[in-house]
Amino acid sequence: MLAWGEPRLRDLPWRRTRDPWAILVSEVMLQQTQVPRVIPKYLAFLEAFPTPQACAASSLGDVLRLWQGLGYPRRARNLHAAATAVGERGGFPDTLVDLLALPGVGPYTARAVLAFAYEIDAAAVDTNIARIYARVAGRTLRAREVQAIADRHAPRGESWAWNQSIMELGAIVCRPAPACEVCPVRAWCTWQGSDAVDPAIGSAGVSVAQARFDGSDRQARGALLRAAGAGVVRSTDLAAVAGRDEVQARRLADALVAEGLLVGTDTGYRLP
Ligand code: ADE
Repeated sequence: MLAWGEPRLRDLPWRRTRDPWAILVSEVMLQQTQVPRVIPKYLAFLEAFPTPQACAASSLGDVLRLWQGLGYPRRARNLHAAATAVGERGGFPDTLVDLLALPGVGPYTARAVLAFAYEIDAAAVDTNIARIYARVAGRTLRAREVQAIADRHAPRGESWAWNQSIMELGAIVCRPAPACEVCPVRAWCTWQGSDAVDPAIGSAGVSVAQARFDGSDRQARGALLRAAGAGVVRSTDLAAVAGRDEVQARRLADALVAEGLLVGTDTGYRLP
């Protein structure tokens, strides 16, 4: 795995840093957004907020403006809250327990920061890696099982390279439609892309395809947040901006308020 990965790891901006803040930003962005979309946003984000302190000192609205186009804006809110928490605790956490205490940081992200920022032994399990282990095992796995298997496989002292390499395997070979003929772990794999049902389907940690974007709430919410980024969205304009009827538009805007992503004003809605 390590020998396979070394010459193949793509030169991605977050692979050139060990700064935990930069790593956290990259991992949060990469959770639900593809690499080519993330790269320019990651660079712009860190230029605007090079440290957690810089991010915490800005409004959530400024963070949301930079988040435009990435989708799933709750991630921006969590990142802003995590930046605040890092400032309050007086330093970036470097243990699993302390990382897990940050808003929006779960078992995957915490381990990714340990591996990629601190090079501490940890086995991150994202959707790509969960897919690999289910296929290698030849059966769907439960969440605890995948983590235990991942922990067993991770070699000591190679945390950075191991996690990047296995992630790369999932991204470019062991894809939903796999390229088993070029896979370096084929000899260890039970499934091997055979006619048997793909064990990754329904296995813990393996995500299902994102729902259609056109016509979705996600799309209308994105339109509202984008418009609010340019100034107050007047209540009278809400439906037109959201591209929905009055009732739906109001419901979506109020949900964004409840989530802390919009603020109601006398005349309409603005970013927090
Ligand atoms: N997806 C999540 N983390 C990643 C990383 N470090 N490199 C490439 N893709 C990723």
